[in-house]
Amino acid sequence: MADNIYESERLVREYLLFHYGGAEDILPHPSGPHDALGFAVRCVDELVDPSIIPPGARALDIGCAVGRSSFELARVCREVVGLDYSAAFVAAAERIRVEGGMDFTHAVEGDRVAAAVARRPAGVEASRVCFATGDAMALPGDLGTFDVVLAANLLCRLPDPRVFLERLPGLVKPGGQLLMTTPFTWLEEFTPRGNWIGAREGAASADELKRLLEPSFELCFAKDLPFLIREHARKFQWSVAWGTRWMRK
Ligand SMILES: C[S@@+](CC[C@H](N)C(=O)[O-])C[C@H]1O[C@@H](n2cnc3c(N)ncnc32)[C@H](O)[C@@H]1O
Repeated sequence: MADNIYESERLVREYLLFHYGGAEDILPHPSGPHDALGFAVRCVDELVDPSIIPPGARALDIGCAVGRSSFELARVCREVVGLDYSAAFVAAAERIRVEGGMDFTHAVEGDRVAAAVARRPAGVEASRVCFATGDAMALPGDLGTFDVVLAANLLCRLPDPRVFLERLPGLVKPGGQLLMTTPFTWLEEFTPRGNWIGAREGAASADELKRLLEPSFELCFAKDLPFLIREHARKFQWSVAWGTRWMRK
C-alpha cells in the first residue's frame, strides 16, 4: 500500500536501526536517554515470564515490523510467528532470518547516510521463526493458539483497536501470556477519534484497556518502557510505552 508509511524506504531504514542498531550507531552522544535503547529486546526480556512457558511453546509477534522481537521470543519459545501488515517490513525481517543479516543505510543529515548491518541475533535458531504479512484487524481463523502473544506498540496504529482486543482471548491459550506495550500515541491518521481507547476527559487509556481486557486476562505485571527512534543524527523520537504482561484466565 503506497499510502502506508510503514511501507516506505525511510521507515524500513529507521526500524532496521531501531531494532538492530548498536548504541554507538543510534545515539552517539554522551547525553541523552541511553536507557531507551534496545527496546525490541527489552519488550520481550522485561515482560515475558519464562518460568511458565511450557516446552514446545508457540509465540506470536503481531506487528513485528523488521522482526527483532520475534528472534528474541525464539530464545524462549520453540516456534515464533511474526506477522506485520507491511510487506516491506516483512521482506526485511525474512531476509535477516534467511541470510543472517542485511546491509542498510540510515540517515545522518540530509542526503548523508551511514552504512550499517542488521544482523540476526547470535544464538537464535532461524528455523524456529517464520514471518508473514497479516492484518491484526482480520487475523485468519486457523492461526491456532499461542503460549505467548506480543503486541508491541501496535494498539494505537490500528483503525479499530477493539477489534484486535476482541480477537485476543481466542489467540492466547489459558495460562498463556499476553505481552503488550503501547505509548497510547493516538493519531487520527491511524485511528479515528471515536475508536481511541479512553484518551478523553475522565477516561485514561490504561484504565480503559484494563476494563476491556480484564474479563479474559489478569494483569500480572506492568512497567514503563522508554524507547528511542532515531530520525537522523541530531533528531530522535523519545517515547514511554506502558509495558504489561497479562495471563489468559
Ligand atoms: C509502531 S510500529 C511497532 C513495531 C514493532 N512491534 C516495534 O515495537 O518496534 C507498528 C507496527 O504495526 C504494524 N501494523 C500497523 N497496522 C497493522 C495491522 N493492521 N496489522 C498488523 N500490523 C500492523 C506496522 O506495519 C508496524 O510494523
